[in-house]
Amino acid sequence: MKVIRKADELRAWSAEQRAAGLTLGFVPTMGALHDGHLSLVARARENNDAVAVSVFVNPTQFNNPDDLKTYPRTEEADLAKLKAAGVDVAFVPTVEEMYPEPDTRVFELGPVAEVMEGKMRPGHFNGVAQVVSRLFVMVNPTHAYFGEKDFQQIAVIRKMVDLEGGFGGLQIVDVPIKREADGLAMSSRNVRLTPELRAVAPGIYKALQAGVEYARNHSVEETTEYVVNQINTIDGLETEYFQIVDGKTCQPISDWSESEMPVGCVTVFAGDVRLIDNIKFTPTC
Ligand code: PAJ
Repeated sequence: MKVIRKADELRAWSAEQRAAGLTLGFVPTMGALHDGHLSLVARARENNDAVAVSVFVNPTQFNNPDDLKTYPRTEEADLAKLKAAGVDVAFVPTVEEMYPEPDTRVFELGPVAEVMEGKMRPGHFNGVAQVVSRLFVMVNPTHAYFGEKDFQQIAVIRKMVDLEGGFGGLQIVDVPIKREADGLAMSSRNVRLTPELRAVAPGIYKALQAGVEYARNHSVEETTEYVVNQINTIDGLETEYFQIVDGKTCQPISDWSESEMPVGCVTVFAGDVRLIDNIKFTPTC
């Protein structure tokens, strides 16, 4: 595996792959890699001739300076995992390399970026669009892989790709959420949970699953209230939001008939650790 730290070197490597007619799979990450990230890498490895993974903690998507400061950084371990996963290139740029000049672009992402994470974390998705669009230009992949754990992020990326003209037919591939054996969605932030909070955190997914059952004979509003109550009755967990949205547009629905793929998206504070999860609903009423 090559470790590339310079954008020019990455562009040259990518140009070689594309000139040879190879498919190039790309997985953008912020490092602190776990099996969730590695499930994306495995998909990219299965479906492409060449695979590149970026490891870059992108400052422009953090609206909270403390969150940026405490974000786990584990480069050496990350590179070992990527090598073992059969990655061809790990791209690990510095902030100066990614942003030789400040990125002042404002993406017109529209309604998809105005709800849920967009509302709670102003500027977050614009920062994601900035870094991912830069990475797409540098890597010039044929396929890029994103996890459904960040459900809204995928919709935002698709919108950004549209706005930017498609990046030469780039395909965005979504990969299901990878969970711990007890149901907790894998996340780089899980290592910050105290043992007590780690023990109760699987309650989030249990509440989502119970919500899907409950939804069989209850309205969207009733189901929303039910899930929030299920989570908030657990000591140490506090729901920030739970919203049932259409899976394509990410806009809230008020009746099951409004969406062919309703998705319930949640963020929960476990102490000061902000956890995110979601589940798909099958509309039956
Ligand atoms: P990061 O949080 O490191 O996640 C990188 C990718 O891994 C994202 O597509 C995310 O959805 C996916 N992922 C994380 N945990 C997962 C899990 N348990 N199951 C499946 N996929 C999972 O998301 C970002 O970084 C950044 O916003 C980025 C896109 C890299 C731009 O900076």
